[in-house]
Amino acid sequence: MIEPLSDTAKLREASAAHNWRHFGDMTDGAAEQLRVIVRGEGCHLYDSDGNRFLDALSNLFCVNVGYSYGDEFAEVAAEQLRTLGYHANWASTHPRAIELSARVAELAGDLDLPHVMFTPSGGEGVETCWKIARQYFKLKGENRWKAIARETAYHGVSLGAISLNGIAAYREPFEPLVPGALHVRNTKAYGRPEGETEAEHAAFLLEDMEARILQEGPSTVAMIIVEPVQNAGGMLTPPAGYAEGLRALADKYGILLVADETITGYGRLGTWFGSQRIGLRPDILTSAKALSSAHAVIGAVLVSDRVYEPFTEAPSLFKHGNTFGAHPVMSAIALKNLEIMERLRLNEHVLAKEPELRAALESLYDLDCVGDVRGMGFFYAIELKPGTVSDGALLAKEIENGLSDAGIMLRVTPTPTGAILGICPPLVADTAEFDELVGGIRTVLSAVCG
Ligand SMILES: Cc1ncc(COP(=O)(O)O)c(C=O)c1O
Repeated sequence: MIEPLSDTAKLREASAAHNWRHFGDMTDGAAEQLRVIVRGEGCHLYDSDGNRFLDALSNLFCVNVGYSYGDEFAEVAAEQLRTLGYHANWASTHPRAIELSARVAELAGDLDLPHVMFTPSGGEGVETCWKIARQYFKLKGENRWKAIARETAYHGVSLGAISLNGIAAYREPFEPLVPGALHVRNTKAYGRPEGETEAEHAAFLLEDMEARILQEGPSTVAMIIVEPVQNAGGMLTPPAGYAEGLRALADKYGILLVADETITGYGRLGTWFGSQRIGLRPDILTSAKALSSAHAVIGAVLVSDRVYEPFTEAPSLFKHGNTFGAHPVMSAIALKNLEIMERLRLNEHVLAKEPELRAALESLYDLDCVGDVRGMGFFYAIELKPGTVSDGALLAKEIENGLSDAGIMLRVTPTPTGAILGICPPLVADTAEFDELVGGIRTVLSAVCG
């Protein structure tokens, strides 16, 4: 019998012995430095030694309402557990699944994606999209299976999702992967030729996409999958005209367009879905993390009437499902989260505060090493100039450690000779948190590479 551990040293020791962390550094000795987080409040986290950290990443891009609504979540979870602790969303169903699907479809509004299937994770959502697309074409009498994603994009870790990942280092250990996962250029503008307009950049990217479709054979391509703003690679916003151009290409070649809104769903860009902000019109949209502000394990895949329709003709069952999708307790928490987000008017807050956050981050341009500040909503990246150092991995570690010592948690990704800081605060963040964030970054970057 394991007693609850309160002492940091004992927790670290037990962690090293038993707890295999996801993407965790499990090398000997790594756990000696392991931070054990025990409490959250507002936009801040506290570790087992009482240290306080600004969570400038919303944990893993997901705690959109921050950490102060535990009582409200607990109340609905307890009520649901007392009434019906579990029921599947298969042949029969339960009220929370129905209510949540109606609410999510309502939030998608003008995107016209009224049919909602729940998943237990973002990666499983991506997997579901690819399977919907494949079976959709089978039902329509076509055999299309390929999927086009973008370089550097992250889409999850199941074999389908990892095949779609545009990060070779994540794919290689598991090869051979699912055939038919292809990658095209992403929308990174930093480093493009000087003077190139957004329209020219969009045309360049769309030409690349179209060339790939033609090279593969359009009749084999089932879907194109993109994030409205791509996280991996550093908050890559699309150039004007790109979203509309993707829709036109999808229509021209009969391909389904899929939005991976695992991060951008539920307010990150100041709209319920990022597609609404950037003018993307997907046939399928997948979302997860912030559907419950990560207080529950739940995601949602939304599809249009057109995609749904072939599955409604008997005996055309979508041969897919899982035990925990639309779990009633998770659904109740997600409903509460959406209610809190609406009550706090978080979309309006993000749009109103976006210029202030952007300006605060752009003030860092006076540091020599800052090359690019980009993003939208509450979703930004700071890319350090290539050539800042000879070893980006060392630099990233140094910055991450420096920020951690300064009480700021965010993600620092190495580039070959620089680094990218990913910034994604809870949507309840305000001027005080922006000041804390930018002050901390300034201090650390000045010391490390000013
Ligand atoms: C865009 C995107 N898609 C999919 C995923 C996978 O989500 P999960 O970790 O819940 O499987 C992530 C995770 O960060 C993501 O950022």
